[in-house]
Amino acid sequence: MEILVSPGPDETAARAADAVLRGLARAVDRPPVLGLATGSSPLGLYRQLGRAVADGRADFSDAYGVALDEYVGLPPGHPEGYRQVLLREVCGVIGLAPEHLEVPDGSSARAADLERAAVAYEERIASLGGVDVQVLGIGANGHLGFNEPGSALASRTRVKRLSARTRRDNARFFTGLDDVPTHCLTQGLGTILDARRLVLVATGDAKADAVAAALEGPLTASVPASVLQWHPDTVVCLDEAAAAGLRNRQYYDDSAAGLPTA
Ligand code: GLP
Repeated sequence: MEILVSPGPDETAARAADAVLRGLARAVDRPPVLGLATGSSPLGLYRQLGRAVADGRADFSDAYGVALDEYVGLPPGHPEGYRQVLLREVCGVIGLAPEHLEVPDGSSARAADLERAAVAYEERIASLGGVDVQVLGIGANGHLGFNEPGSALASRTRVKRLSARTRRDNARFFTGLDDVPTHCLTQGLGTILDARRLVLVATGDAKADAVAAALEGPLTASVPASVLQWHPDTVVCLDEAAAAGLRNRQYYDDSAAGLPTA
């Protein structure tokens, strides 16, 4: 794991954008596929990617965007459904074509429809050639996508129940807790691990415990983000506040400095 700690959220976003662009540059002879997370954590990163497009350093006009997750049971077009959120916060910002945005279809609340949508989503990701770079945030309870504590480490896209904590955390986007969906469709931890590169962004002290547990605790379903430890190409971009619980901090800083110049 490459663990990069920056003084504040802006530098964190810039380093994450750099890690994303370096990862996408490896996609040759086919359109790059960028895995997209919702939430406040990656917003600065998306703005940085937008800046790179404006400067001519990046071009997402033929890229595909693949969402991590979607709520179950929200009507199509609901402003807090993740398709709409990603259209607003990513497509418009980085110039990704709306018809190149893939989001699991959670519009039905029937189990059989959702099972079909989950299988179709896995097939769609495979047909795109897999995800080149998956952007990730982390829930305060250590969730990744909507893989709540207890999620199988090899899980694939499926329906999950949202935890009480996650529903409370996300109630700010709805008129009240009762309006927050109880279930979601989410890429599994196994699906996420298939991406060629993972880039996690976390800022602020509310994430410090989850970050420390994920990066330095045991690999366990109780902390879904601990699967980052299993992936061969993970870049973790933190600000000082989110890194505050890390014990091996000096080593990460030394490693980030790179090889001595001869
Ligand atoms: C949401 C998303 C996650 C996201 C997390 C953290 O519920 N499903 O993908 O990483 O919660 O959100 P935030 O970045 O706003 O703290």
